[in-house]
Amino acid sequence: MLKGKTVILGVTGGIAAYKSATLVSRLKNLGADVWVVMTAEATKLVGPLTFRTLSGNPVITDLFAEEIAGLPVPHITLAKKADLLVIAPCTANVIGKMAHGLADDALTTIALAATAPKLLAPAMNCEMWRNRGVQENLKKLKDQAIKFVGPVEGKLACGDDDIGRMAEPETILEEVVRWLGGSDDLKGKHILVTAGGTREAIDPVRYIANHSSGKMGYALAEAARARGATVTLIAANVDRPAPLDIKPVKVGSAAEMLGVVMDNQGKADAIIMAAAVGDFKVKNQKSKVKKNAGKIDLELEENADIIATVAKQKGKKGRKLIGFALETEDLIQNAKLKMKNKGLDLIVANGPDTFGSEQATVSIINQAGKVENLPKLPKSEIANRILDAVLRL
Ligand SMILES: Cc1cc2nc3c(=O)[nH]c(=O)nc-3n(C[C@H](O)[C@H](O)[C@H](O)COP(=O)(O)O)c2cc1C
Repeated sequence: MLKGKTVILGVTGGIAAYKSATLVSRLKNLGADVWVVMTAEATKLVGPLTFRTLSGNPVITDLFAEEIAGLPVPHITLAKKADLLVIAPCTANVIGKMAHGLADDALTTIALAATAPKLLAPAMNCEMWRNRGVQENLKKLKDQAIKFVGPVEGKLACGDDDIGRMAEPETILEEVVRWLGGSDDLKGKHILVTAGGTREAIDPVRYIANHSSGKMGYALAEAARARGATVTLIAANVDRPAPLDIKPVKVGSAAEMLGVVMDNQGKADAIIMAAAVGDFKVKNQKSKVKKNAGKIDLELEENADIIATVAKQKGKKGRKLIGFALETEDLIQNAKLKMKNKGLDLIVANGPDTFGSEQATVSIINQAGKVENLPKLPKSEIANRILDAVLRL
């Protein structure tokens, strides 16, 4: 599954370092070329020989070593070679250094030099994890599209039963496989995805919204990126971690979403509109509505139709437009009508029970009227099925 992929595994000075030995052997079993880079503190907890034996490659512990396996300037050569940099366990210290662009050892230097996606599995004492400085550093890294797996709750080395345990090697492996295990069939393609639900202001403190969580859109963005696409993800009010290697462009209202979509649509080979966009906005929205008004009447006016507006743009040659239809009755019939009226190439039909759930039951409908009814599946799997259908267009 990971044949031909190079994974750099950074191991830092956390007590969970011993678990990374399992991760190395599982990665090797799946065919990955694994290079372990250890911090000096990590070598006090686990011997480099363990990782050297399991990975079959020299272990990098010293930035100034004269030569490592014939690699010229090893830290840069390795950084360039990597398809993914995983740091597990990742200490508060390394999180802090990466957040501030510091590079005082082999691992942090490689982390700065590598342009490959980065997946970090933090592990530390619960109070260290809750520390404001650590949380601020995490936020900085999340803003750089660095992805985190864990920490999880459970028994900590200090005896507390709390948050801070490193995610299990199997969970980390699943993330790695999700990222590297797919094909590269979208390489060279630019895919624009919208996600989440727009908010329309009633007044400066209140809004009209919908239940969209953004999970489907985020799953689509992550799957497309994992399959080699360049992804623009436009997210309306989504409260979830950014997908690996993607920095969402955040918007609030339908009008804002329209603006950002229009700015980016020209370069897209496929535009997948998974966001739930409010059909209406409040007309003459003014200062805060007072409670003692007794009764208020909200006058609503239609928002611009984003898909229809994009459909009218010329766009890139061969561009495909994919929409979602959420209907409470006559789902397939209404979805087909929407596809026709809006000039879509493909439509994904689903019911309201999909909101916020990890799994969904959807139908994928093409212009020829062919309906592919999928069983209830995780959204990550649905995302890949939709991308398969896009490739068949
Ligand atoms: C036994 C032991 C276990 C430790 N476990 C952790 C840990 O899980 N997470 C963490 O952030 N720091 C942990 N520390 C503290 C780090 O080792 C320390 O901050 C060190 O400077 C980290 O260096 P590094 O980030 O370069 O590996 C531990 C220290 C000791 C002595």
